[in-house]
Amino acid sequence: MKPHLVTIASLVFLAPFLVSGQYDPNWESIDSRPLPQWFDDGKVGIFIHWGLYSVPSYINEWFWWSWLGDNSEAHDNYMKQNFKPGFAYEEFGPMFTAEFYDPVQWADLFQKSGANYVVLTSKHHEGFAMWPSSYGFAWNAMSVGPKRDLLGELEVAVKNTGIHFGIYYSLLEWFHPLYDQDKANNWNTSQLPQMKSIPALKEVITKYKPDVIWSDGEWEAPDTYWDSVGFLAWLYNESPVKDSVVVNDRWGSDTRGKHGGFYNFDDRYNPGVLIPHKWENAMSLDKRAWTHRREAVLSDYLTPHELVDQLIATVSCGGNILVNIGPTKEGTIPIIAQERLLQMGEWLGINGEAIYATVPWTYQNDTVTQGVWYTSNKDITKLYAMTTIWPDDGTLLLGAVTPAQAGSLQMLGSPAENLQWSPATPSGIRVTLPPMNRNRSKWAWTIVVNLLTS
Ligand SMILES: *[C@@H]1O[C@H](CO)[C@@H](O)[C@H](O)[C@H]1NC(C)=O
Ligand SMILES: *[C@@H]1O[C@H](CO)[C@@H](O)[C@H](O)[C@H]1NC(C)=O
Ligand SMILES: *[C@@H]1O[C@H](CO)[C@@H](O)[C@H](O)[C@H]1NC(C)=O
Repeated sequence: MKPHLVTIASLVFLAPFLVSGQYDPNWESIDSRPLPQWFDDGKVGIFIHWGLYSVPSYINEWFWWSWLGDNSEAHDNYMKQNFKPGFAYEEFGPMFTAEFYDPVQWADLFQKSGANYVVLTSKHHEGFAMWPSSYGFAWNAMSVGPKRDLLGELEVAVKNTGIHFGIYYSLLEWFHPLYDQDKANNWNTSQLPQMKSIPALKEVITKYKPDVIWSDGEWEAPDTYWDSVGFLAWLYNESPVKDSVVVNDRWGSDTRGKHGGFYNFDDRYNPGVLIPHKWENAMSLDKRAWTHRREAVLSDYLTPHELVDQLIATVSCGGNILVNIGPTKEGTIPIIAQERLLQMGEWLGINGEAIYATVPWTYQNDTVTQGVWYTSNKDITKLYAMTTIWPDDGTLLLGAVTPAQAGSLQMLGSPAENLQWSPATPSGIRVTLPPMNRNRSKWAWTIVVNLLTS
């Protein structure tokens, strides 16, 4: 994001006409808002897919649509074999029990994972609200199922740990009659946005003050249908989170990678190259779904090595990582997901200096050695070279670092002695890694290069 050059003279001239923090409902104005710094500094978030799809907990979170919208054979067979004829998706409501839901325990886990923000599905495409919404009669977690304000309880617990609380929100709702009518009218009418999507979104924001609005379900209709710029102008000018909130880029059929706050592009976007606009890699510990799936096997889950590898590659390329977990209908977080989050936290506990509040360096990955990724501190006095592979010969060739740049070198999590290095041919430096020691990092290791010149 390029700051606009504003001369003192024009500021003095304009000052009386500017109302502070006023954004107009057009993309040029909305897109000019600087992203609050906490988001870029935070780097790591937790995504939580939890809703009525957590009851069947089978195949994916698109259960309702796959079953009755797409007539998927797998879903149809599953329903025929396990439920009485005529069973309606709505009947999953009372089966969403959440009896073991302990938001304080969840928040403690998120804190130990090293995350700086949490994004809960407040309402997925099925339309079921996780808070007592006045815009969804008998279709929320307070009216049916847990009979608790699941979202509100998490908001309090998460904020008590100092982690930013955020919400995912689907603009569309499957099978909603107003949405179907609007669609039949070629989006010339906006009944769903006007009567449901936007009022309920403003309600959840006003009530729970989330710092992240992770919009979704935008793709079929233009942003004018959703009145996205009108909503965002309200969010940035008037909402209770106008100074701290960040939003993604899913605001209409042609907005991804173009408009909004940070860019998500597609799910699991992780290009391995620098993206000049702030972006986020929203990915899931389960490689095949966002919801908890009871049929999942261990190999469906990322290994801790794969998770750390994704985290490093993402942050080196200017992204944040949003790591998804799928809690169960009982309100527990699957043990394997707990373990992965704690492993990420263990790695960040040693290597966090190379991740949090860093900026991309000149090179994102090494020019010669595979699996080496770079970040630097903001004033570019320290370079962090993270390697996901421990070389067999115990020396690491950093092809992107010149001998003239390299001051002293250390490894995070090792005794604070300087590492030996020598100029390499034809270019780069060769670093002698410290021998194994008890509390050295696992899965990936960080060499700190104190830069003499950047
Ligand atoms: C509805 O919108 C489409 C384009 O989105 C336009 O071509 C069409 O003329 C409109 N129809 C009516 C009835 O307004
Ligand atoms: C650096 O990353 C790019 C993009 O992912 C890849 O094509 C290239 O092979 C990587 N370089 C090395 C040395 O691994
Ligand atoms: C463990 O780490 C600490 C802090 O980095 C360091 O002082 C200590 O020497 C390390 N212990 C071992 C056995 O490497």
